[in-house]
Amino acid sequence: MRILVIGSGGREHALVWKLAQSPCVTDLWCAPGNAGIAQERLAGSGAQVQCVNLGVEDLPPLQTFARENQADLTVVGPDNPLALGIVDLFRRHGLCIWGPNQSAARFESSKVFSQQFMEKYGIPTARAGTFADAAAASRFAASLGGCCAVKADGLALGKGVLICRDMAQADRAIEEVLVRKSFGTAGATIVIQELLEGMEITLHALCDGRTAKLFPTSQDHKRALDGDAGLNTGGMGAYSPAPFLSDAELAEAGRKILDPWLRGCAAEGIDFQGILYPGVMLTKDGPKVLEFNARFGDPETQVYLTRLESDLAELLVASAEGCLANTDLKWSAMPSVCVVMASAGYPGSYAKGQPIHGLAEAARLPNTKVFHAGTARSGDQIVTAGGRVLGVTAWAKDLRGARDAAYAAVETIRFEGAQFRRDIAAKALR
Ligand code: AMP
Ligand code: GLY
Repeated sequence: MRILVIGSGGREHALVWKLAQSPCVTDLWCAPGNAGIAQERLAGSGAQVQCVNLGVEDLPPLQTFARENQADLTVVGPDNPLALGIVDLFRRHGLCIWGPNQSAARFESSKVFSQQFMEKYGIPTARAGTFADAAAASRFAASLGGCCAVKADGLALGKGVLICRDMAQADRAIEEVLVRKSFGTAGATIVIQELLEGMEITLHALCDGRTAKLFPTSQDHKRALDGDAGLNTGGMGAYSPAPFLSDAELAEAGRKILDPWLRGCAAEGIDFQGILYPGVMLTKDGPKVLEFNARFGDPETQVYLTRLESDLAELLVASAEGCLANTDLKWSAMPSVCVVMASAGYPGSYAKGQPIHGLAEAARLPNTKVFHAGTARSGDQIVTAGGRVLGVTAWAKDLRGARDAAYAAVETIRFEGAQFRRDIAAKALR
């Protein structure tokens, strides 16, 4: 099988690494990829993974590449090409591609669509309203005592959610999004949700349009600094499983979210083939969905795929072809922990081009995999090229062992200004 992966982050390195282990994969490309992806080799033939110099939003050139190279499957990592309709474009040209089509990707690309869908089909979520008018939005925020999450409808590079704890903050947030249009047209309408209290976890389900297969739990660490302080980031680390739900509670949460979601998709004619990623708050009234994403999480993918025992290529083909019902997802019992090493200044501005040392040493550690996110090759060196640089991932027979192994690998790696959280998985080990 000949596969093209689209994206360049840690998630895509994990996808490529796992796909490369599949005996049926004969050719593997990644557009645009990164320095770590370019080092991967196929388990079957030993052939090297090829990085292709095309951006994730270069839809027509990506389609041409897949056609000319006879890719049997294209796997989409990030959300922006999905929202732009890459799946619809490839299918119109008769190409097999994995990911939700543009209509199905609205679960992530439109918070208004998602919220209204959840309410219509009885998916447990926060009390919420949707608004285009600032005065009406402010009245609703006041009914929540100002404790609310103000969310721009559209994609806003992960920055479109403003958490407010009083009316002054809520009015400032409404003003910023609806009136001053800080997120452009993404903020033409907003969702205001009540603030939910509890432990936040990540769920993933692989879907084929009719069937949804739930993954184990995981937990991301979105803030830049220890103790969940500092700015929101793309994610500074993750681990799986998150031990806040028993297997029975996870199955129950899956039923309460996925059964009505599948019913709603059928009723609305939405054919969702890809990963549904609900962000979930475990409240005292049970799990509630904060938002849906329509792709693999980053860095959750790094911990999920180091635990997945099934053949990922086979699973993604089954998902794209609508025959997931006959497949099984097998998971290692070993917990996995990913610690993100980021550039100094991230998520604000940061320097690039810093040489990274110690990668060869880390590669020799057992049960450890260093996924690259923002890296590039410069001569014979690998250098930093993004905010999140590496996802240092390790697995072991228990979570403490996995955490210790991940941090031991972090200690072998050095680059100027490297910053990372020291408390990944700490909530689970308390
Ligand atoms: P998002 O960009 O939608 O992932 O939201 C960013 C973060 O804001 C989430 O990961 C939560 O930590 C937080 N958040 C979003 N909605 C709510 C809510 N209704 N209550 C509490 N926290 C929320
Ligand atoms: N882990 C956060 C995200 O992928 O959006």
